[in-house]
Amino acid sequence: MKTTFLFLIIGLLISTEAVATVSPVKDEQTEKKIEELISKMTLDEKLGQMAQFDPYQFGGDEQTKQAIKEGKVGSILNLVGAKRINELQRIAVEESRLGIPIIIGRDVIHGYRTITPIPLGMAASWNAELTSKAMAVAAEEAASEGVHWTFAPMIDVSRDPRWGRIAESCGEDTYLSTVMAKAMVQGFQGDDLSDPKTIAACAKHYVGYGAAEGGRDYNTTYIPENQLRNDYLPPFKAAADAGVATFMSGFNDLNGVPVTGNEFTLKTILREEWGFDGMVVSDWASIAEMIAHGYAKDTKEAGYKALRAGVDMEMVSRCYLDNVQELLDEGKIEMATIDKYVGNILRVKFRLGLFDHPYTDETLAEKTILSEKNKAIAKEAASESFVLLQNKNEILPLSKDINSVAVIGPLADAPHDQMGTWVFDGKKENTVTPYTALTELLGAGKVNFAEGLATSRTKNTDGFEAAIQAAEKSDAVLLFLGEESILSGEAHSLADLNFRGAQSQLLDAMVETGKPIVLVIMAGRQLTIEDALYKADAILYAWAPGTMGGPALAEMIFGETVPSGKLPVTFPKTVGQIPIYYNHKNTGRPADYSNWTHIDEIPVEAGQTSLGNTSHYLDAGFEPLFPFGYGLSYTTFEYSDLKLSSKTMEADGSIEVSVTLKNTGKYEGSEVVQLYIRDRFASLTRPVKQLKGYKKVNVKPGETKQVTLMLSAKDLEFFNGTDYVIEPGDFDIWVGTNSKDGLHNEFSIN
Ligand code: BGC
Repeated sequence: MKTTFLFLIIGLLISTEAVATVSPVKDEQTEKKIEELISKMTLDEKLGQMAQFDPYQFGGDEQTKQAIKEGKVGSILNLVGAKRINELQRIAVEESRLGIPIIIGRDVIHGYRTITPIPLGMAASWNAELTSKAMAVAAEEAASEGVHWTFAPMIDVSRDPRWGRIAESCGEDTYLSTVMAKAMVQGFQGDDLSDPKTIAACAKHYVGYGAAEGGRDYNTTYIPENQLRNDYLPPFKAAADAGVATFMSGFNDLNGVPVTGNEFTLKTILREEWGFDGMVVSDWASIAEMIAHGYAKDTKEAGYKALRAGVDMEMVSRCYLDNVQELLDEGKIEMATIDKYVGNILRVKFRLGLFDHPYTDETLAEKTILSEKNKAIAKEAASESFVLLQNKNEILPLSKDINSVAVIGPLADAPHDQMGTWVFDGKKENTVTPYTALTELLGAGKVNFAEGLATSRTKNTDGFEAAIQAAEKSDAVLLFLGEESILSGEAHSLADLNFRGAQSQLLDAMVETGKPIVLVIMAGRQLTIEDALYKADAILYAWAPGTMGGPALAEMIFGETVPSGKLPVTFPKTVGQIPIYYNHKNTGRPADYSNWTHIDEIPVEAGQTSLGNTSHYLDAGFEPLFPFGYGLSYTTFEYSDLKLSSKTMEADGSIEVSVTLKNTGKYEGSEVVQLYIRDRFASLTRPVKQLKGYKKVNVKPGETKQVTLMLSAKDLEFFNGTDYVIEPGDFDIWVGTNSKDGLHNEFSIN
């Protein structure tokens, strides 16, 4: 047991540090302009700034224009097209009394017209630089169509694949989500928010939404403060530190207080500790939903509680518009509070340069959208997101000399579905499917196509006969199974994660042909695919790969590229194992197979005993199907010689961790070298493993590389229920290819 805290980092210290890292810093001139503007505003105009409307809410074109003219519209969401947006902006800027520009928001989650992989797929690339580039593509295209602000990135740590929104997340790990959060913010916002190619980002859904009970969307979350601070908040802190312009408060009830009315998370942490000076927008009607939560009796109380917590802008509902006057009259809130919130909104508009350049160049979209450069990035992103889960007898890559392949399955030629969830602007006409790409790569004569099933859900097997015939006349079967895009995403949670419809039967029918099976799975989450492992020769997990998913897959299947993705989530064997994640606690009876008796082997009428039993399931054990961080390559890597620059670390110091990585296979490939630690004993129990660093390294066949990672004491800091601490003690360290396998060493903090 450690008894002394070397470092007690008190709240004040945290907040000072946070303020220093938040960028961009407030600038005096802008603050003066904001103040002047506010001093001239009527209450109606202030409330207009605090309101975000969906176009349908105005009731028609005339009404929309009138409301803007009267200065009653601060923001509109779900509006695209530079011409239309300019038309409305012109009214705001040239015809409203104070000429304050409107900010246009849109869900540009993983691409605008050029669709890149879903965020979960992007996280599987473990490539922050590429992720940034992909988000920059989205920003550039959206900006060219008049969008100023995206409601992304979603950085809710998600440990439940039943939750449909896991597709939008960066997966189960706090560290990886933190790296991705930063990369995505940088991608959307670039170095300069006023650049016409960048848009404001929004860290959402603050906070804890991913912990929804049972994976049911919108459900309750219960997260103790230490877990909130250790697991759920760091990606948001990273986004704030990266200068994210806005935050979105979520839908969930957190420990009894909906996050949209939560003073602790919105005021104490976000504003006071982190010094965030941008804008907070509610989620869609999440202020009004506090009534259904049972946290407010009417829209007035809901508005009051959101104001008290610090939500600046209300999305769609009218709790502010309808009640602020009364709340002011009753003295429940002060005008100074309203002014502060309006200031937060105006600050973002100034940072975006909207006052100086309110209009979008209407010629831009044509040059920008679906450009060759953007499609190339989308292809690279898709390629790096694929995770090779199985490759029996090194069946992949296939040779282009193959006589013919059968291209089978409901997702082989599904241009809409391969784009994934949260796509409003991508068009299926622009998507290149695997079928199209394979035909192009091999020539039509070599591709025998039959989808077998019209959709991923259908049980109609009329297409099987054609699929079997196609397989029988081919040398290999490329089978594309998974789930349609509408089966993940918001409000699309699932209780059963097996292949739906007759997909398993289709797999069986293909196996019966005796042909080698390459199974490609497209899905918005990890599915339960254990059965498929026994049947398919190779499995490539492709998430929802987006516009260029087809060519990226075709090239990988035929060896023009080599898989390098790693799982950003643990794959359960069965739904009953959920939640299952690598960085769990050890328990007093850590899971272990030494005494495990499978349920089928327990003698009938066996006497009750718990002795020797550990924390596991009788029927499913305790291990997942695939661990976090898992992913194969066409080549093989050998790790050796894990070295630490020192076996002891000062409480304010760091050590250098190095390992030798050799490519022992035939292909040039990239490996994600992962560093995990375990804090053996602490004032609060710590996870059995935690990712604390990684590097994606390209290595040529036969080549050896020295990979060095820095680990600092600061990386080992955690919140112990009272304070952020770095505690002296002993640590395990592993460096390896996934969260399960790695070379081991140890060190201690003095
Ligand atoms: C979602 C948000 C989204 C917003 C605007 C809500 O339903 O939860 O993530 O940004 O709608 O479309």
